[in-house]
Amino acid sequence: MKKIVILISGRGSNMQALLEAQLPCSIAAVISNRADAEGLNIAKAHGIPTAVVEHRDYADRDRFDTALAKSIDAFVPDFVALAGFMRILTAKFVARYQGKLINIHPSLLPAYGGLDTHVRALHDGVKIHGCTVHFVTTDLDHGPIIIQAAVPVLRDDTEQTLAARVLREEHRIYAQAIRWLCNDKVILNEQGHAILRHRKQSGFTLVSPGLE
Ligand code: GAR
Repeated sequence: MKKIVILISGRGSNMQALLEAQLPCSIAAVISNRADAEGLNIAKAHGIPTAVVEHRDYADRDRFDTALAKSIDAFVPDFVALAGFMRILTAKFVARYQGKLINIHPSLLPAYGGLDTHVRALHDGVKIHGCTVHFVTTDLDHGPIIIQAAVPVLRDDTEQTLAARVLREEHRIYAQAIRWLCNDKVILNEQGHAILRHRKQSGFTLVSPGLE
């Protein structure tokens, strides 16, 4: 059975969704860069080994990433899943886990990489927003996309209501992406795009606001 290590920085709701998704792989550990990340308690309550590599204890990104890699490698994972892990990783770290490092981001990439994605989407008045699971490359928030979910942006949405709608979908698509990865269903083609083996395409369209 394949093994994954999950990296978190805070609340850990995506991590929790993965722990409860009955994935076809074992969750070897949850590692946080902050000792006070609430998600660590959730992981412990699920009986998952946890570790903390405090970024503040290291003089620079390179030293932190080296310590983080050491902690990860002790669990010999097949995949490393970033779940609200809010540190920018060095090119050396990303190269070490090439093809094994995945991330969930709260926008329909390539739109709204970076922070405050929901506020920025509301500010722009977009009608459709969402979330993305992708392989991590040195290009921040721009690796090959595995799966995306789109949600409507509603007229009276606030940052909170929109974030909650997107988060529900994050929890679903992250588990799906990891299920595919652990079952060897995802391949990278010559263009560097992530594609699924043996998968029917769905023809569903989201129109927002709806047609009358
Ligand atoms: C999630 O919305 C995740 O997509 C986002 O942080 C939140 C963490 O919540 N990640 C990023 O913005 C990464 N660029 P969680 O700790 O409850 O999973």
